[in-house]
Amino acid sequence: MKADFYRDQLTDLVSMVESGSGQQGDALASIPASEFTCPERLAAEKALFRRLPLIVGHSSQVAEPGDYMVHEDLGTSYLIVRGRDGTLRAFLNYCQHRGTRLVQKASGSSAQRFTCPYHAWSYDIQGRLASVPREDLFPCLDQESKGLKQVRLDERFGLLWLVQDPDGAPPLNEYLDGIEAELTAIAGENKALWFNRTRNLKANWKLPLNAFLESYHIAVLHRHSVGRFFVRHIALSEQRGQHIWSLVPRSSILELKDANWSDANLQDYVTPSYILFPNACFVLHPTSVSVLTLYPGERPGESTWNHMLLIPEMPQTDEEARHYDKTIEVLDGMTYEAEDFWVSEQMQQGLDAGAIDNLTLGLTEHMILAFHDTINRALETAGP
Ligand code: FES
Ligand SMILES: [Fe+2]
Repeated sequence: MKADFYRDQLTDLVSMVESGSGQQGDALASIPASEFTCPERLAAEKALFRRLPLIVGHSSQVAEPGDYMVHEDLGTSYLIVRGRDGTLRAFLNYCQHRGTRLVQKASGSSAQRFTCPYHAWSYDIQGRLASVPREDLFPCLDQESKGLKQVRLDERFGLLWLVQDPDGAPPLNEYLDGIEAELTAIAGENKALWFNRTRNLKANWKLPLNAFLESYHIAVLHRHSVGRFFVRHIALSEQRGQHIWSLVPRSSILELKDANWSDANLQDYVTPSYILFPNACFVLHPTSVSVLTLYPGERPGESTWNHMLLIPEMPQTDEEARHYDKTIEVLDGMTYEAEDFWVSEQMQQGLDAGAIDNLTLGLTEHMILAFHDTINRALETAGP
């Protein structure tokens, strides 16, 4: 399947660009500032996150048996390791003797055993307790029950989805209902991980995601980076279950009228994106896909973000490699970090200062409200 599932909506988008009027909400709206500053709210969001599949990596990072990585952006250390049987498993990365963090390295390969730095209990790569030094000092120890604590990990679309607390968590298919076919197509066309970086942010996790839910800011904030590539103030968005799908027209979109649509690379004319509930964003660029993931931090005004750039296949020539390096320079450095995420930190300062009680949303910012409503509904359903 080709990742051009939005072909049907392009006619509407072209009409919007021609008429100069895009999709709009019904009325002015607002979001309480406390959604970004309240510690109780953050605690409730983290509790919700525990029961949802969250993206924690890419299959290529742990491709072979014995490959492992440690993921700590959720505030707990998780060990993800591919077993001898080829199955990927995730464990709480803590020793079952007295709880020391087991694996200290961020990643590695060809692992046979993981040995605790405290007293050298060691575990095999399937998480079973394999040896205890001076076993005679632990009479009647039931070694079988002392394996590492496992959590749910699903491997789909080349991505790793971790569920911290599987009780009541939806199966991945159900969770991605409505966008599964599209993710299959996107993953099928973008199998290789070219870039992967994690950084800390002094802003609530929702603020950077909000930047991907409106095109109002593009001509202003991004005027020195990608602003010139896009049509001002126009976007077409749709809710798919809890997720939100958007199309932002590129400046070239009117050329599509003359082009043979069936041959065109549609992402030269339009930028589709998904906000994957609750904390990830997929942005489809002309030759690559950004997967951005935001993890709540210790305080409401802190988060961690990860950017993976997926490309069709690893470059065969230096020229191809330079092309993707340039993509990263413009996207990750100039646009996301220096603009979208920078402005999120500026906003957080204003919100923490009590400068405004409510964020005001204009008619083209209505999808931010939809995103926040979805989170609020999920929090209500989840209960305290
Ligand atoms: S805490 Fe790990 S061996 Fe003692
Ligand atoms: Fe932006």
